[in-house]
Amino acid sequence: MLNLYVNPKIKKGHIEPEIQGHFSEHLGRCIYEGLYVGENSEIPNVNGMRIDVVSALKNLKIPVLRWPGGCFADEYHWMDGIGPRENRKKMINTHWGGVVEDNSFGTHEFMELCEQLGCKSYINGNLGSGTVQEMSEWVEYLTFEGVSPMSDLRAKNGRKEPWTVDYFGVGNENWGCGGNMTPEHYGNEFRRYQTYVRNYKKDAPLKKIACGANVDDYEWTKGVLHTTHRNAPGFLHGFMDGLSLHYYTLPEGWEPKVSATEFDDKMWYKTMKKTHYMETLIKQHGAIMDQYDPEKKIGMIIDEWGTWFACEEGTNPGFLYQQNTMRDALVAGINLNIFNKNCDRVKMANLAQMVNVLQAVILTEGKDMVLTPTYHVFDLYKNHQDADLVESSIEVTQIGLDEENKVPNLTESTSVTKDGTIHITITNCSLDESYTIDGIFAETTIHKISGRILQNEARAYNSFDCPEKIKIEEFTTYQKTEKGLQFTIPACSVLHLELETK
Ligand code: AHR
Repeated sequence: MLNLYVNPKIKKGHIEPEIQGHFSEHLGRCIYEGLYVGENSEIPNVNGMRIDVVSALKNLKIPVLRWPGGCFADEYHWMDGIGPRENRKKMINTHWGGVVEDNSFGTHEFMELCEQLGCKSYINGNLGSGTVQEMSEWVEYLTFEGVSPMSDLRAKNGRKEPWTVDYFGVGNENWGCGGNMTPEHYGNEFRRYQTYVRNYKKDAPLKKIACGANVDDYEWTKGVLHTTHRNAPGFLHGFMDGLSLHYYTLPEGWEPKVSATEFDDKMWYKTMKKTHYMETLIKQHGAIMDQYDPEKKIGMIIDEWGTWFACEEGTNPGFLYQQNTMRDALVAGINLNIFNKNCDRVKMANLAQMVNVLQAVILTEGKDMVLTPTYHVFDLYKNHQDADLVESSIEVTQIGLDEENKVPNLTESTSVTKDGTIHITITNCSLDESYTIDGIFAETTIHKISGRILQNEARAYNSFDCPEKIKIEEFTTYQKTEKGLQFTIPACSVLHLELETK
């Protein structure tokens, strides 16, 4: 028997909804086919957006969507994607398969997608190959209400009212695909570019995100923060609201990439081990951020995370299309629990990517759509959005098949929503063991319990032939006890428990 301890009266932080954010790049079939099919498509759509996909995403309460990249962002020139579609410039998508990008999905289409999803917008600007003027004018085009060249152009293109842009990324991966810069060089460029990213909407100020590190490049974090904070007025926090971090779960590193569906048990635990590394990265980069920002005003924005496996056979290698098994479900559940537990610093995280790319929540094939195990995990966790993280801990044992890849069998996080309901999410990454858990609740009277679980064989996935092999099921095998409740979590599962206390 393992103990779970919860004290819902002790608040540890607030879980920003954005922690369950998403990312959609002009990459492979994410935007085109996955989200956007155009008004003339036979696939049912509203203003070009797939009705099936948008409605499935709305069920997840998508809080924020990042666009247009990724590496694509630093070669994207936004003016090519506005105005009549037939006149829009075509370009080569050099990063992703060298295919033609016809720019039919641009600024207006992205903002329309956010409106349909009811989510916040996170636009990533081009610092690598774009000019300061270009970035500045994009923000003016998007958000300025009065008379100006850019707001006039927006009106000419059919949109009189400005939009609200919630987050603006000043470059992406500028240590790599975004210009191969040094941290000091990027820090200076960030200072310059962000100066002209004006805040036109005083009631809805846009938050500026600086490009943070790749994985464990702590020198980048130090170098950027040192440069951006040098002689910067204290209240401006280095001119940024957030600093990003990119970390993908790549069990064997970049090469060889491992199959998304065919893996042995050792590879399973290795993947879990790599996933847990996220916690170390948050703590280490967080410790550096603490030196410059002890009050934690700058959010850590993990705007690219997820599994990166070998592409499905027969697909364009530049399109990063991969299947999604229960292993992805566990990776998602563990990461989301880690983000919750670190919500004092982590203010946003964006799964890479939303549809048809990497650890997608949805896969499409023509008019068909499949919800992946990762989709269901986001469904299980959605009640954490905007809730308060509370004190909780779970007893764990280290499991795995070899010494260097031992991992905790369980992870959990617990939050309380405004109405006093307690939400607990627990992952069990053991391939063969279930665990009985004794839940001890301090200062709590539980009136009603309900549970939902995602559980299946490790290599199972949803295919177009069998789209509902893995789905959420009701979890009813718990007993109320004097101290709280007792239940058994099965092997290879992700569980959500909801406890009403009023
Ligand atoms: O998500 C795929 C790519 O991974 C992004 O374009 C880039 O930012 C990262 O390297």
